[in-house]
Amino acid sequence: VKKRRVLVLVHPTLIPPASLRGRSAREIEEWRVEFDVVAALRGLRHDVRILGVLDSLIELDATLRDWRPHVVFNLLEEFNGIVSYESHVVAHLELMQQPYTGCNPRGLMLARDKLLCKQLLVAAGIRTPAFHAVAPGSVLRLPAVLKFPLIVKSARDDASLGIAQGSVVRNLAQCHARVRFMHRQFGAVALIEEYIPGRELYVAMLGDMRPRTFPVWELQFGRLPASMSRIATRHIKWDRAYQHRLGIGPRRAMDLPRKALTHVTSTARQAYRALQLSGYARIDFRMREDGELFVLEANPNPNLARIEDFATSAAAAGIHYEKLIGQIVATGLAHRAEWRS
Ligand SMILES: Nc1ncnc2c1ncn2[C@@H]1O[C@H](COP(=O)(O)OP(=O)(O)O)[C@@H](O)[C@H]1O
Ligand SMILES: [Mg+2]
Repeated sequence: VKKRRVLVLVHPTLIPPASLRGRSAREIEEWRVEFDVVAALRGLRHDVRILGVLDSLIELDATLRDWRPHVVFNLLEEFNGIVSYESHVVAHLELMQQPYTGCNPRGLMLARDKLLCKQLLVAAGIRTPAFHAVAPGSVLRLPAVLKFPLIVKSARDDASLGIAQGSVVRNLAQCHARVRFMHRQFGAVALIEEYIPGRELYVAMLGDMRPRTFPVWELQFGRLPASMSRIATRHIKWDRAYQHRLGIGPRRAMDLPRKALTHVTSTARQAYRALQLSGYARIDFRMREDGELFVLEANPNPNLARIEDFATSAAAAGIHYEKLIGQIVATGLAHRAEWRS
């Protein structure tokens, strides 16, 4: 690999240490992605610098000017604590004619807004659960087409924020209460969706015009008690001890007929295109028992930790971690940004 100057952008509290020695499991969890990516970039012999970005771009601009990185490895997910400003930082890189890894600003903006994302999917003829949105301050009038059970989530947040067993509601009273809770707790538009029982499938993708797809992954709910809804709550997603105890976690999807596998992968491609994604992403699905497939959401710039599903599904395709990080860098360097033409 050609040696490149790579500037890694991270949240200032997530600058990883040089080694894991003496760190608690809890600390490691915080900057696992940052540590893994930096270690891989160094393993690839790149010249790596890490820059924390909180609420100013002054230092970033000075570094772009003075050090002239070949590529920015973008691990930022917010600016000044505001998640919807994530795309603005990437837009800034684009204005500076700076190559970067991951998704372009437009794709980020479209996919991160769950409502806009669903509207675009519907317009492209891609199935997504029927939905209704309620902004804070407005009253809930549930359209009759929506059939219980429903799930209530935030239209803006990700990483399963606000997703708990109580998110699945079985009647109007429960729905009202959960919407009120989401408004009060997160101040976000509440997104009410039809609850789709079935298998939860993920497709990791890498590339721009013709992205490649990795083997279909499935969130296994293991020995989760039958009384509980099989959803990726905050607990299920992040509590490693709990995952371990119940055998919960994403694995390669087994016993899916070949036809179903191709359907999932081709729908993932359609969604990637409809949302104008680039770089790398993970598209999430629910597949009902009758085989009907629904896109739950698209995640541009998904979690890149070595142990998370993006990297593990790439590994199943024979792309080990360092190689994957190298390909993400190469994709960023080759991205046909508008300023190039
Ligand atoms: N319509 C739905 N039907 C069934 N389960 C759902 C639905 N929407 C969300 N879920 C469950 O909730 C989890 C989190 O929802 P998601 O929309 O992916 O939010 P986040 O952005 O926080 O990951 C999903 O992984 C899935 O398990
Ligand atoms: Mg999700």
